[in-house]
Amino acid sequence: SRLLVLESANTAAGAQAATASVPLHILFGSQTGNAEALAQHAATLARAQGMAPVVQALGEVDLGVFAAMRHVLVISSTYGEGEMPDNAQLFWDAISASTAPRVEHMHFAVLAIGDTGYDGFCQAGKLIDMRLEQLGAKRLCERVDCDVEYETQAQTWIEAAMPQFARTAGAGAIAAPAASATPTTPAIPGTGRKNPYASTLLSNHKLSGAASAKDIRHFEFDLEGSGLHYEAGDALGIVPVNDPALVQLLLERLNVDYDSPVPGHESSLGDLLTHQLEISAPSRKLVDWIGQGSQHEELQYILEHDDKDALDAWLWGKDILDLLMLNPAQTIGIQELVAQLRPLQHRAYSISSSGKAYPNQVHLTIAAVRYQHAGRQRGGVCSTYLADRVGRGEKPAIFISPNKAFRVPQNTDAPIIMVGPGTGIAPFRAFLQERQTTGAKGKNWLFFGDQHRANDYIYENELSQWHQDGHLSRLELAFSRDQGEKVYVQNRMREHGAELFAWLQEGAHFYVCGDATRMAKDVDDMLHTIVAEHGGTSHEKAADYVNQLKKDKRYLRDVY
Ligand code: 2AM
Repeated sequence: SRLLVLESANTAAGAQAATASVPLHILFGSQTGNAEALAQHAATLARAQGMAPVVQALGEVDLGVFAAMRHVLVISSTYGEGEMPDNAQLFWDAISASTAPRVEHMHFAVLAIGDTGYDGFCQAGKLIDMRLEQLGAKRLCERVDCDVEYETQAQTWIEAAMPQFARTAGAGAIAAPAASATPTTPAIPGTGRKNPYASTLLSNHKLSGAASAKDIRHFEFDLEGSGLHYEAGDALGIVPVNDPALVQLLLERLNVDYDSPVPGHESSLGDLLTHQLEISAPSRKLVDWIGQGSQHEELQYILEHDDKDALDAWLWGKDILDLLMLNPAQTIGIQELVAQLRPLQHRAYSISSSGKAYPNQVHLTIAAVRYQHAGRQRGGVCSTYLADRVGRGEKPAIFISPNKAFRVPQNTDAPIIMVGPGTGIAPFRAFLQERQTTGAKGKNWLFFGDQHRANDYIYENELSQWHQDGHLSRLELAFSRDQGEKVYVQNRMREHGAELFAWLQEGAHFYVCGDATRMAKDVDDMLHTIVAEHGGTSHEKAADYVNQLKKDKRYLRDVY
């Protein structure tokens, strides 16, 4: 088990305590905890190599202290379209500035994790890697860029990197306990994505009204007897099952049966397409492969000119079947096709309940993604799986995905301000339940909104009840399409800017959840504006103020 592994590694570290004097700084940039977990694992290996690991979030590293470090291992994820994780942004701002100090005495290596499904794959790690080189640091080993299935690759890379650090540091290389340090699958089902728990779906009901443009749903899963626990702020991973109708269309296009064997695979083609491979969003590998074979002029032109924006625009709304239909008469080899597809990923959703209020359940708030494109109805892989294809009482594979950085304040008296339009309300419903159950006295302020009050005011009963009984001290609503001019949550923030700033001055924690590309950016801008206006200060000073909030972990985001 994992525990045993860590213990044996710790014992090895104990034996080396006398030589464990050369610090290895393991700095992580983590949005959801994966990079942090890798950093902890690297620390175990570093100790076994006779080094003294110091694990820290990038955002907590002071530039002056950083400049003096000699051995640095950076492990960073990337989020959204190539952005720094929130806890790495301050560090990046500091080292990317023209005034950043040179660090010629530093040896470093970078492990990047990302998702090839997004633009800017591993961008945060790539930028840090390049910048450290520019500042004169010596790269000990080539950066590794890991995709979502990062475990094995990351593990192998760390095992190879560690002796190099030890050698450079002169810590006396000690044989790496390679085999014994391999992290194994955690014992309790539901605590990791490799080891999900089959949980009964207890409830699936629509929250949004019939006339809404959206289909937002409330789901409840059973945890009774699972031994699983979660904290308000955590996410739930779900392993989806692809739409059998789409699988059928693919099989028809390929002109083969569900049960067709695929050389090199144990499962039939139908099972692979249903349970193991992404069949909705095309991978870049598939696009290139199709581009070579399809004689489709527009696609070939875009690929030849390597025009990323044009490719994104062309791909918009298209799934794998669309690509295979570009040239419907062409024969496609199933083994070759399978080689172009990515493994089916789990999807993670912010949990909308508190484990203290519902110890035996976990709730989710999800918009089912549905759209019509080129004459065919399409849907989000996991959201329509849950909304349409899991019968009540059936058991989807789930696991808890901790988000240690996104929590209610430990100080139960601290006020909190939550901005969560649309399904961004999810973790704040959990926070409000949590603070109610624990009797936290701090004030709670929620900014919520969506298109129309009549259709989209989800959890209206709960929210107005909390507002009435004072648990929600303040509730600001922004229904964007109920009047001539758009009104968004950030407009409400501005209307109440003086109070908002006063709350921050009282020590309030500020939380944002939901759309990263537009809403969270605009809310961030508005936060700066409010601090400048009501703090009577310049935009520069306002930025310092907001940065300090981040450093104090009082400005936290769960955005996607
Ligand atoms: P709209 O679609 O009417 O423009 C949840 O999706 C809510 O977020 C909707 O009311 C949507 O408004 C709104 N929204 C869209 N863009 C936004 C932005 N940049 N900032 C804040 N809210 C936004």
